[in-house]
Amino acid sequence: MSTPTSTEHGATGAAGLEAAVAALESARRATLALTDADDAELTAQHSPLMSPLVWDLAHVGQQEEQWLLQAADPDREPVFHPAIACLYDAFEHPRATRTQLPLLDATASRRALAEVRGRVLDALERAHPDDAHSTAGMVAQHEFQHDETMLATHGLRTGAPLLTATPTPPGRPVPAEAVLVPAGPFLLGADPVAEPWALDNELPQHEVHLPAFRIGRVPVSNGEWAQFVDAGGYDDPRLWSTTGWAHRTAQGLRAPMTWEPDGAGWWTQRRFGVVRTVDPAEPVQHVDFHEAQAYARWAGARLPTEVEWEKACAWDPATGRRRRWPWGDDPATAQRANLGGTALGPAQVGAYPAGASAYGVEQMIGDVWEWTSSAFTPWPGFSPMLYDSYSAPFFGGDHRVLRGGAWATAAGAVRPSFRNWDHPIRRQVFTGVRLAWDA
Ligand SMILES: [Fe+2]
Repeated sequence: MSTPTSTEHGATGAAGLEAAVAALESARRATLALTDADDAELTAQHSPLMSPLVWDLAHVGQQEEQWLLQAADPDREPVFHPAIACLYDAFEHPRATRTQLPLLDATASRRALAEVRGRVLDALERAHPDDAHSTAGMVAQHEFQHDETMLATHGLRTGAPLLTATPTPPGRPVPAEAVLVPAGPFLLGADPVAEPWALDNELPQHEVHLPAFRIGRVPVSNGEWAQFVDAGGYDDPRLWSTTGWAHRTAQGLRAPMTWEPDGAGWWTQRRFGVVRTVDPAEPVQHVDFHEAQAYARWAGARLPTEVEWEKACAWDPATGRRRRWPWGDDPATAQRANLGGTALGPAQVGAYPAGASAYGVEQMIGDVWEWTSSAFTPWPGFSPMLYDSYSAPFFGGDHRVLRGGAWATAAGAVRPSFRNWDHPIRRQVFTGVRLAWDA
């Protein structure tokens, strides 16, 4: 799988194209590693919420062909013929139905991926770097996103482990008090020059004035969440929204997904086929938006808005400018953030002092996606990109925005301005919580 990369994907021109090609290759290594299993494994469906892995495998190649070959030359002979390509249309075929489709088998999928990639590399060599790098970056990010989705699918498997975890740095005690972010203006959204891979929903950058607020220095831990469970948090409707309580009751939620009582007052969890004791020092993972909201109410807090989250992550009040990452403009490394998908879980809280933002907020990038209170809506002046159904069909509705990426996210597929969104009942993604308070 991909590791945090030192690739300078903020570059443009020839360097930008080189970074995009490196990202395409990194994403492909992850895709092939995550689908290095027998056909029965790849065609299995572990949940109606997830695709069989063999669908994701061919889908990334089909999309790569569509955006990097078909768009430039619609008359060429395709690798994915229209009758096949349409099987990999995510809008046409909901996840629950994908095992019933006449999908390519794993061997044919890998062959098609290699064929498309060969032609793409040829085409990129001939392309003008200024024109090609951002589309290639978008396609690389798309494959990285499916690599993360495939990790979520792996996470729902019940069989013997297929993946092995690499270690993360140990945590450390961090001051309990929340971090104050004083009132004032900041620039929300991506600067398209500094972030040429920014997607349409991160643009345009614009000034926003926020009142002062406080935000958790680190994400909420398993130990803190266990106190919420012990205090009857799952049984007290006053802590939950009406919709949240209805969902909690219908689903019988009692604790985060994967937690099971160990019979001695604590919890175990199954993670990628391994049953382990829940580590109280790790950020809580696999909770839905409703649970996050109930926890926050119990803790006398609230969830941050996504705008507050982004200010705490990227704004440097001393210089009056945005940083590319919370820690500065230097690339992500294994000392700054848990990204890249090899850890198979979040690092303990306090593990990345070198990754702190200008305000001193830690672990904003990597570890767990953080639920915000914000609905997914366009920034003022939004205009759709080439892949015009990436964001626009999802604005409005019940989606909530998640920020910061998880341990399963590639460094090339997340930024402080990056906006993820999902239904408030979603738990199988690598979701966690950070608290906020009015100041
Ligand atoms: Fe996709």
